[in-house]
Amino acid sequence: MDLERISLAIEPDLLRKFDTFLSEGGVANRSEAVRDLIRKHLVEAQEDPKADAAASLTLVYDHDTRELSDRLVEIGHEHHANILSTLHIHLDHDLCLEVMALKGKRRDLRRLAARVLGLKGVLHGGLVMTSLDVLAEVKK
Ligand code: NI
Repeated sequence: MDLERISLAIEPDLLRKFDTFLSEGGVANRSEAVRDLIRKHLVEAQEDPKADAAASLTLVYDHDTRELSDRLVEIGHEHHANILSTLHIHLDHDLCLEVMALKGKRRDLRRLAARVLGLKGVLHGGLVMTSLDVLAEVKK
């Protein structure tokens, strides 16, 4: 791999915090960490709604909420082409954790996530999306 050397100007305080973050995460050197941050930024900054993406959608919900389970099933069937797999875990008496593995156009995955996360009874959740074309360009 060809590497170009650059120098960075950074506030001492910020650098100390970065080094602490790296040592806690077991990352060996700053260069690798900065490269990882740049890749992460580029992969997440993709804004083309038609770009191909893979994603995980996580949600925690109260299964006793009226009609929530039925709505989730309906939405799941409407978006069946984008949902590769769903993991369901009964966390306790009331709460369920679901993780959906998704693939498709960014626009469709965002729409699905907004519908699911906006349902009454969904207490927490989030979408982590990877743009596949950008990833192919910046991979190690
Ligand atoms: Ni459950």
